[in-house]
Amino acid sequence: MGHGTTQQHDVIIIGGGGAGLRAAIAIAQENPSFSVACVSKVYPMRSHTVTAEGGAAASIKPNDSLEDHIYDTISGADWLADQDAVEYFVNEAPAEMIQLEHWGCPWSREPDGSVAVRPFGGMKIERTWFAADKTGFHMLHSLFQTTLKYGNIVRYDEHFATKLLLDDNGNCRGCAAIELRTGSTRAILGKSVIICTGGAGKAFPFTTNGSIKTGDGMAMAYRAGVALKDMEFIQYHPTGLPGTGILITEASRGEGGILVNKDGHRFLQDYDLGEALDVSDPRHPQKRAMELGPRDKLSQCFIKERDAGRTIETKDGHVMHLDLRHLGEAKIDKKIPFVRELARNYAGIDPVHQPIPVRPVVHYVMGGIDTDTDAATNIPGLYAAGECACVSINGANRLGSNSLTELLVFGAQAGRHAARFAMDHPDYDVSALEAQAADEGARVRRTYFDASRKGERIVTLRTELHDAMEDGAGIYRDADSLQAACATVTDLRERYRNVTLDDHTNSFNTELTAALELGSLLEVAEAMANSGLKRTESRGSHQRTDHPERNDDDFLAHSMAFRQEGGAPPRIDYKPVTITKWPPGARTYGAGSGLKKPAGETT
Ligand code: FUM
Repeated sequence: MGHGTTQQHDVIIIGGGGAGLRAAIAIAQENPSFSVACVSKVYPMRSHTVTAEGGAAASIKPNDSLEDHIYDTISGADWLADQDAVEYFVNEAPAEMIQLEHWGCPWSREPDGSVAVRPFGGMKIERTWFAADKTGFHMLHSLFQTTLKYGNIVRYDEHFATKLLLDDNGNCRGCAAIELRTGSTRAILGKSVIICTGGAGKAFPFTTNGSIKTGDGMAMAYRAGVALKDMEFIQYHPTGLPGTGILITEASRGEGGILVNKDGHRFLQDYDLGEALDVSDPRHPQKRAMELGPRDKLSQCFIKERDAGRTIETKDGHVMHLDLRHLGEAKIDKKIPFVRELARNYAGIDPVHQPIPVRPVVHYVMGGIDTDTDAATNIPGLYAAGECACVSINGANRLGSNSLTELLVFGAQAGRHAARFAMDHPDYDVSALEAQAADEGARVRRTYFDASRKGERIVTLRTELHDAMEDGAGIYRDADSLQAACATVTDLRERYRNVTLDDHTNSFNTELTAALELGSLLEVAEAMANSGLKRTESRGSHQRTDHPERNDDDFLAHSMAFRQEGGAPPRIDYKPVTITKWPPGARTYGAGSGLKKPAGETT
């Protein structure tokens, strides 16, 4: 391990998933003479976007409207979304989706050739575009192949960025990154930087997230002085496979699948989520009701059923059943073939003949790096987009299928603005930044390769982190559980200073990667638990049993976690939510067909 050669480009993107690739294309189009670097710890097609299944939302059909998409998103977010950001997102969404088709994304079609859309949770009108149930794969592939057309997009695959580099004026000018093949740390410099590193579901033990989703970009920005916003809002997806956490897409319910408890009862009707219409009723599946209610509420209902003894106990814990049998083999194979494949391979169940055991599973972090609608952070020249960022359109609960569209809309936005910043602020001192990168390489070596250390094992710390987060900051929380999670994370951060690696080799040192990832998770988990402790209300995915009501007087605000030095817990400030045209109202689902605004909501 040593110092790698310094590399210079115009804009640096950290992360090679959907948001990063979309940003790269936007930069290449904004300024064709610019050189763009895409730095990723994995090969781009292994980014987590590839696993997305159900679809991407955009209003396009004559029965839909931008206003309806905005309203569903804002009410689904329990009014914690910034309404200017949601308006921008919804307005831009259709053009981004059409653009993606022109880049090769094979959207599923209706028999008349028009783009097909399916219903999704919390949406009163069907607007989720899909490519069967491998939407993320096709989107990522289309973006990746498009980047290949541009000779000026340079990739640094299998480079683990560990530190943002700031010039003397406080502008972000690149990152220090470990080239995993050689173990050397190099400076990758540019005139502006975009972070697109995805979420941090791996702070929890049971998640749909791939092992790479360890919050590295969030942690890097946090260490550099950017607030992590709304980190207490963790989305549990209601239907993951027990044991593995593999996602069984919401599309299976959008196509008509039902959820039942151990008695075969469609229990969601008991929780004010609507009427259990017969599956042969042409009005089934009902939009914004029952199985197409929002994810936070469905996951909470599961816990209530479990606590009432009405779920099914298995060797992998309690489950409910997702029943697709009435859809029939032809529809399952046409619309959700991957669901059948996953259920067969990972649960030994053929959903054509048997119900699938499912349970809630950590899926998405609503919070993230604080950005504005330009995707800009408070550090000049630093931008963020995708799941790592919080702009915020998702508030306290993201609606399924908004995130794939979000990474397109705000990936493009980040690319354009980072390119403009780079054009306006071209000059920086290379040697000062190289020196920072060299210091960072030395720090990594000192921290992780000290043979005299006899300290903590990665797996011990990671397991304790997982237990603390699941027990303390899960679907239901209270002051005691969150306090315990905060204390454990503080203790783990201290113990992490003595983490010990057996492997001190340079090339593809996966133990070093795991240690770096654990370091990121500890930073991010600290923000999650402490933000949750301070928010003494219940809203969306943040359900406090000791404060069961939403409290708009005190908490219609974004939490802003600022890292403190010396291992102290973060400082939590609050920033007002931007409300434009949609005043906060009661959040109800299942009223009538879902096409009317539920009583009490006030648009
Ligand atoms: O269920 C799903 O297909 C997940 C979609 C999403 O998280 O947007």
